[in-house]
Amino acid sequence: AADMGKDLEKVLITEEQIHAKLEELAGEIATEYAGKDLLLVGVLKGAVMVMADLMRALPISAPVDWMAVSSYGSGTKSSGVVRILKDLDVDITGKHVLIVEDIVDSGLTLSWIRANLASRSPASVEICTLLRKPDAAKVEVDVKWVGFDIPNEFVVGYGLDYAEQYRGLRQVGTLAPHVYS
Ligand code: PRP
Ligand code: MN
Ligand code: MG
Repeated sequence: AADMGKDLEKVLITEEQIHAKLEELAGEIATEYAGKDLLLVGVLKGAVMVMADLMRALPISAPVDWMAVSSYGSGTKSSGVVRILKDLDVDITGKHVLIVEDIVDSGLTLSWIRANLASRSPASVEICTLLRKPDAAKVEVDVKWVGFDIPNEFVVGYGLDYAEQYRGLRQVGTLAPHVYS
């Protein structure tokens, strides 16, 4: 297992900043969905931390479901072609769906997921993401709630991985060069 403390080079967003932001977003989300049939949809695996903290910050109760997707074919995300590895357990017809994500990078994953979910006759589909990289966008995704816009650097922590490691870091940061060599 990797040494999370030694491998982190620079902290971009602290644990306190993350939690303060999620409290703020949760308040807005609760207002938006008051009295509505809300379903939270997390995208495995990166969204687990955001989902866990956002749902605890929400003053309203809503069911949670999960999707797992993978880019199809040659393995580069840039294809924009996505394959469902695990679909939702529930029918979302007539429901107000809020997709919860850790990061919008190129935007390809979320634009595909949103279109896929929108085709299932929900009442609405919106997106909440903790992080977004505006300079990495390949497609525009209309994201209603964004925690932080960050520079186009490779970041890990708080659900985000490098080769499946570092998801458990409490903050978001960049890795030291020795990790990659
Ligand atoms: C990461 C991240 C987002 C997606 C964003 O997931 O968690 O889901 O990439 O990239 P995009 O905007 O360029 O499509 P990844 O595919 O690495 O799977 P993971 O969540 O299991 O780490
Ligand atoms: Mn992901
Ligand atoms: Mg990943």
